[in-house]
Amino acid sequence: MLLAKCFMQMKILLALSSLLEKRKCIYLFLSFIICIGSISAKEKSVSINQKCLSCHSTESICDGKFKINEEEFYSSAHSSIKCTDCHLVSLRGSDEKMSHKKIMPEIDCTAKCHQQNKQIKPGLSPLYYPDSVHGRAYLERGAQDAAKCWDCHTKHNIKRQSDLDSTVNKRNIPLTCSNCHEDMSVILKYNIHCEKPYQDYLQSVHGKALYKAGLLSLAAVCTDCHGIHDIKGVGEPSLIAKNPKTCGKCHILIFNAYKESIHGGEALNGNPDVPLCVDCHNEHKIIFPSDEEAPTSWKNVNDTCSACHARIEIMQKYGVPDDRRESYIQSLHGIAIGYGYEAAANCTSCHGFHDIRPASDPSSRVNPANLAKTCRQENCHPGMPDKISNSRIHIDINQKKSGASYYIQQIFLWIVFITAVITVIWFVPGFIKKIKYLKR
Ligand code: HEC
Ligand code: HEC
Ligand code: HEC
Ligand code: HEC
Ligand code: HEC
Ligand code: HEC
Ligand code: HEC
Ligand code: HEC
Ligand code: HEC
Repeated sequence: MLLAKCFMQMKILLALSSLLEKRKCIYLFLSFIICIGSISAKEKSVSINQKCLSCHSTESICDGKFKINEEEFYSSAHSSIKCTDCHLVSLRGSDEKMSHKKIMPEIDCTAKCHQQNKQIKPGLSPLYYPDSVHGRAYLERGAQDAAKCWDCHTKHNIKRQSDLDSTVNKRNIPLTCSNCHEDMSVILKYNIHCEKPYQDYLQSVHGKALYKAGLLSLAAVCTDCHGIHDIKGVGEPSLIAKNPKTCGKCHILIFNAYKESIHGGEALNGNPDVPLCVDCHNEHKIIFPSDEEAPTSWKNVNDTCSACHARIEIMQKYGVPDDRRESYIQSLHGIAIGYGYEAAANCTSCHGFHDIRPASDPSSRVNPANLAKTCRQENCHPGMPDKISNSRIHIDINQKKSGASYYIQQIFLWIVFITAVITVIWFVPGFIKKIKYLKR
């Protein structure tokens, strides 16, 4: 196996040398040295490992508690390193048998190895781990339940990420994280606010894309949103999971529209009052807007917007009218939606969703110059005259400032009131007369 590898290595180097037109013998010599080096290193580690395994591949130690699966170990990514590279055991007496003292130092995967450059890919270098939510919990507070390198990668059966059996292969990541994150004892002990990320994820567009739609390489998994070795917890100032830029890695065009909008522009400046992608779409259970249950569906989107736009304290802060929900519900569109008429306009039909701008912005869909076009959308009112499209939408007929509508409503209210009074005046004496008549 190893000799065959050496042979391949020599062949490649020879081919390279002929390409570069350098002297072949130098390359041949070099590759020979490299191969001999690797063979002797491998042999040395195999011989040490065999000594450790002479005890540790048997069931005899502590009922198999310390048994290592030899086959797994030798097919793992670490097959050619020594047990003692990771386990800094203190040997008892001579080197011969490799028997060791009971107490062992903690394993540190980044002490001699895994100091990968932090620049390769955001969050990939294991050097980020000490400052992650898991790293801080384990290294600083000694929390044994927090993810250590080997909880995500396994101890002795570590596979490359590209290997389909690897615990960190894209397909397997959601399950690897959920070993702990759907374990109620861990969730309660560490007060983690999200109880079933995996179940929610399975129902999401991304979970379905990963497992069903065959979009393995494109779909988002836990680490695409949370980071890899740099995962951070609730309350961190620049949480990767919540950052619209994280969704924007894949949804590029949408991100570009969003960042130019009133919400997106403010969000990227750090304003906490405006909606991030996940405020409108959900954190884990992101479902297609065409699904009626989605917060972005025609049925629910009015409530999603109104969660903020009907809150007086937020809207007053920005000088934005706070009557939008009320005025919409009273409008013809609002009434129609209330009766389940899907085709009626909702907030996003008029305002857009990722490109929402104030009415004063010339490129806003509700700017007076664009209103006619907005009303004449294909599925709405294709032939609507300008005069009608320019009429006001958000009219709260309970307020004087709404002008004619307010007074018309008031007149009707008075008519109803007066009629009622007349009816009572007319009806009561007749009623009394009738009773008197019956008593007689
Ligand atoms: C002579 C048999 C023997 C040999 C050889 C041996 N071990 Fe052990 N090892 C044991 C026994 C017995 C235990 C259980 C110790 C105890 O009582 O907790 C153990 C425990 C361990 C543990 C677990 C410690 C813990 O408490 O979690 C590690 C790790 C370990 N050995 C690594 C090694 C390595 C690495 C080598 C080779 C350098 C090696 N062992 C060689 C007998 C052996
Ligand atoms: C890549 C690093 C690495 C190598 C190589 C390695 N181990 Fe381990 N080993 C670990 C880690 C990590 C643990 C878990 C330590 C902990 O829980 O604190 C572990 C745990 C153990 C244990 C305790 C039982 C268990 O499963 O938790 C034994 C015994 C052990 N190793 C023996 C060996 C032997 C024998 C070899 C060589 C054949 C070996 N290890 C090679 C990383 C390694
Ligand atoms: C919370 C889980 C988790 C923890 C803890 C963790 N890793 Fe990772 N690690 C991953 C995931 C997931 C990947 C795959 C990233 C990707 O998509 O490329 C990865 C990738 C890697 C890779 C690249 C593997 C390859 O085949 O390209 C190395 C090396 C690595 N981790 C080492 C470590 C070390 C060392 C530690 C401890 C300091 C550690 N990891 C802790 C989840 C974890
Ligand atoms: C599409 C992006 C995305 C994916 C995929 C995703 N998450 Fe999340 N996750 C989030 C967001 C956003 C939050 C909320 C962050 C906040 O409010 O602090 C969150 C919150 C969490 C929390 C609570 C801690 C916190 O920061 O609020 C945990 C635990 C968690 N996710 C685990 C997972 C696990 C496990 C998976 C994979 C099964 C996963 N997530 C997949 C985006 C994602
Ligand atoms: C071995 C168990 C374990 C594994 C595996 C694990 N975690 Fe965690 N994780 C924890 C624990 C415990 C905490 C709480 C740490 C704390 O509160 O300090 C935590 C915290 C978190 C938090 C922050 C929660 C909060 O409320 O602030 C997020 C987000 C998170 N993990 C995501 C992940 C992702 C994504 C993966 C998979 C790549 C993963 N975890 C794998 C145990 C684990
Ligand atoms: C790693 C890439 C990736 C990341 C990161 C990502 N997504 Fe997605 N998302 C996808 C893919 C791929 C699909 C397509 C699924 C399909 O069509 O089946 C998708 C689909 C969607 C859909 C449904 C699209 C439709 O056609 O109706 C929504 C909504 C969505 N993502 C929102 C988000 C949000 C919000 C975030 C950030 C919290 C996010 N995504 C992060 C890759 C990603
Ligand atoms: C103010 C709420 C809101 C915010 C913020 C928001 N979206 Fe949306 N998003 C919606 C609505 C509503 C729809 C559904 C529109 C429709 O098709 O009816 C939607 C649709 C989508 C779709 C489906 C494809 C499409 O264009 O119809 C994707 C993907 C998506 N959003 C991703 C994102 C991402 C990524 C972000 C952040 C950069 C984001 N959204 C921010 C409300 C929002
Ligand atoms: C998380 C809260 C939140 C949600 C959800 C939200 N908005 Fe906003 N929106 C705001 C805030 C805050 C402002 C004011 C920003 C500023 O002026 O800097 C704003 C501004 C606006 C403006 C511009 C008003 C002006 O005069 O500046 C419009 C139009 C708007 N939002 C419509 C919508 C629609 C439509 C939805 C639903 C698809 C929605 N918003 C969802 C918080 C929210
Ligand atoms: C039929 C179209 C239509 C619908 C539906 C609609 N709006 Fe409006 N909206 C407008 C027009 C036109 C304006 C600008 C004139 C005005 O202020 O009345 C406006 C103004 C606004 C403003 C103030 C913007 C500014 O810059 O002054 C906000 C905020 C707003 N709408 C939010 C909403 C919310 C939230 C909903 C859903 C509950 C909604 N709108 C539904 C057409 C609509």
